[in-house]
Amino acid sequence: MLLVMGGGNMGGALVRGLVAAGWEPGSIAIAEVDESRRSVLSSQLPATQVVAEPVPSGGAVVAVKPAQGEAACRSLARLGTTKVLSLMAGVRLASLESWLGPDVAAVRAMPNTPALVGAGMSAIAAGSGAGEEELAWAEEVLGAVGKVVRVSEPSLDAVTALSGSGPGYLFYVAEAMIEAGVAAGLSEALSSELVLQTFLGSARMMLEAGETPQVLRGRVTSPAGTTQAGLEVLENRGVQAAFADAVAAAAARSHELGG
Ligand SMILES: NC(=O)c1ccc[n+]([C@@H]2O[C@H](COP(=O)([O-])OP(=O)(O)OC[C@H]3O[C@@H](n4cnc5c(N)ncnc54)[C@H](OP(=O)(O)O)[C@@H]3O)[C@@H](O)[C@H]2O)c1
Repeated sequence: MLLVMGGGNMGGALVRGLVAAGWEPGSIAIAEVDESRRSVLSSQLPATQVVAEPVPSGGAVVAVKPAQGEAACRSLARLGTTKVLSLMAGVRLASLESWLGPDVAAVRAMPNTPALVGAGMSAIAAGSGAGEEELAWAEEVLGAVGKVVRVSEPSLDAVTALSGSGPGYLFYVAEAMIEAGVAAGLSEALSSELVLQTFLGSARMMLEAGETPQVLRGRVTSPAGTTQAGLEVLENRGVQAAFADAVAAAAARSHELGG
């Protein structure tokens, strides 16, 4: 039995992803304190156990807010849980291990919001008691909602700044481009359609064309052409340097929040 503690955005999306990936719905339980949320989950996932209190399990995912993490971990340890995968942003392995005690292996993950649509990017880091078995388990669980990579815990601040906060940066770029399209004379609906499909197509090319973003950019930038005219403005305004500063600021903030 896999227990998911917290049936909110992340917990709910994870269980839907696991069921879609072929996990037996009856082999998953969701513990959720909120009664109205429990009834929504029960109707969405009729064959999955939705419970108010955590139940014994072979492994548990902690998908509650960080402020509720200590209570959740302590209750899992009391239930004899042997491995725990934490999705809580900014909660360090040392804290997880102190709440879980020496008999529970902990894996810490940093997922991102596109997990909600099955296209997440998660990085996982092993605690001192977690080995290959627990990491492979964590990869299998998070693999149901996207890609998973292994890192060491100190890298998680940079991961948080890049893929954790990254959707926010890309939404910001999309907003800016949509507004620019409107300023250039298009309706908001048309501008939005053009920008969103351009994001999707560009992302698929970067993933599927087997070329770096730099090579792909070179291919669409003919000398003295329109793309070059636009890119020169972005270069002159220091957009690349701004991204470097943005990621550094987010990583520093992640370090502070987890400290
Ligand atoms: N959403 C994201 O994109 C994202 C990205 C990276 C990391 N994360 C991490 O994922 C975790 C969950 O985020 P979320 O967006 O899914 O939050 P959320 O929607 O607030 O979900 C948490 C749910 O867990 C419930 N809960 C709290 N304590 C519980 C307990 N002891 N037992 C059972 N259920 C409990 C909460 O109920 P109440 O509301 O009644 O307290 C709430 O319904 C957070 O730690 C966050 O840092 C999220």
